[in-house]
Amino acid sequence: MGGLLPPWHENMAGSEPPKVPDFSATQEWEDSDTFSGTQRLKARWAQVVAETNDPRLVPALPAPLEPGSTIGRYELVTRLAKGGMAFVWMGVRRRSSGAKEVAALKTLLPSLSHDRAFVHMFLDEAKLLSEIHHPNVVSIRDVGTHGDVPYVVLEWVEGDTLSALLRALAAKSKEVPLAIALRIVGECCLGLHNAHELRDSRGELLSVVHRDVSPSNIMMSSTGDVKLIDFGVAKATDRLAEQTRTGVLKGKVSYMAPEQVLRAVPDRRTDVWAVGVVLYRLIAQRLPYEGDIPSVVRQIKYGEPVPPLPAGTPRPVAEIVHRALAREPQDRFQTAADMRRAVQYAYAEVCAPVPKDQFARFVMTHLGSTIQARRELLNRVLAQ
Ligand SMILES: Nc1ncnc2c1ncn2[C@@H]1O[C@H](COP(=O)(O)OP(=O)(O)O)[C@@H](O)[C@H]1O
Ligand SMILES: [Mg+2]
Repeated sequence: MGGLLPPWHENMAGSEPPKVPDFSATQEWEDSDTFSGTQRLKARWAQVVAETNDPRLVPALPAPLEPGSTIGRYELVTRLAKGGMAFVWMGVRRRSSGAKEVAALKTLLPSLSHDRAFVHMFLDEAKLLSEIHHPNVVSIRDVGTHGDVPYVVLEWVEGDTLSALLRALAAKSKEVPLAIALRIVGECCLGLHNAHELRDSRGELLSVVHRDVSPSNIMMSSTGDVKLIDFGVAKATDRLAEQTRTGVLKGKVSYMAPEQVLRAVPDRRTDVWAVGVVLYRLIAQRLPYEGDIPSVVRQIKYGEPVPPLPAGTPRPVAEIVHRALAREPQDRFQTAADMRRAVQYAYAEVCAPVPKDQFARFVMTHLGSTIQARRELLNRVLAQ
């Protein structure tokens, strides 16, 4: 593999620490509007890798992270989530010009920051995101370490996840309208396709697979954007062998394709399957395979037939679901872009497409209270 995703873990074994420029002191760095410039992020990332590879350079964590703590240039406002690997925070940066900038900060759980495997996985997400520039994929602004805890700064998505939307709708005994479901799924396909098409400097496909596409990793914003998040277990081919050796199943089992539970090498069609499960879930109000984890794994493994979609599901839509959920990858859409095309055709046949502003209104109708509460909190902090 060339260029974009060097097997940087090799640095760990080597005696030569990677050479990294020191950006921290430069005026350009401080004043830069965005840190998403790929070259800059790469250098910044290398700096973090070097720091985390050399424990002598890493000072101990000064204090536990909490609202009010400062990480890099950001003040933490509130904790949004605690996942298996990281905390996610809303953070704000006050520029010397007086401008204020909100961002999401993802910090590796302190308990994992001494485990190199987790530090690598966490920083891999930063590396991958620094190469992806697409409206349907959350963008990265910065990467760094706070004490011994690595963190990434992500663009702020003012909204919530598809799983939060599903919960909000369920509480009102409502369902996702078909046209909205198609919009969400179509946008996910666009973001995924862009990630799948990532190439190295020689033009070779990096064979990125997200591996964890599910409603909790799809965000919808107040402005009607759909963004894929959490490339934390996404891998390009150069890390795959290692992953397969460790044999750990990462991601949510209900959304896993047969080849994923069988521990075969996943590819872009594995993500197509997961998007198929998302669409099935939105249409059928249930998952294709339900039960405890061993039972779900068994059903996926043996290709149990999925329960039929609700009567009345338009044929073109049912066809999309079944094609995405074909047991053999060669029988699925071969690319997320193909699936997106099928979604567009279905739109044309069965319902009017939902324009972005209408989708934004839908998001605000059902997720508006969370969004509003966060806005108010942010305003209170900014007023201080
Ligand atoms: N860029 C972002 N803007 C706003 N909220 C975010 C952002 N990224 C993540 N979140 C919130 O944090 C949660 C966890 O983020 P995620 O990246 O999925 O981490 P995990 O590995 O813990 O699942 C998401 O479900 C979402 O609610
Ligand atoms: Mg997640």
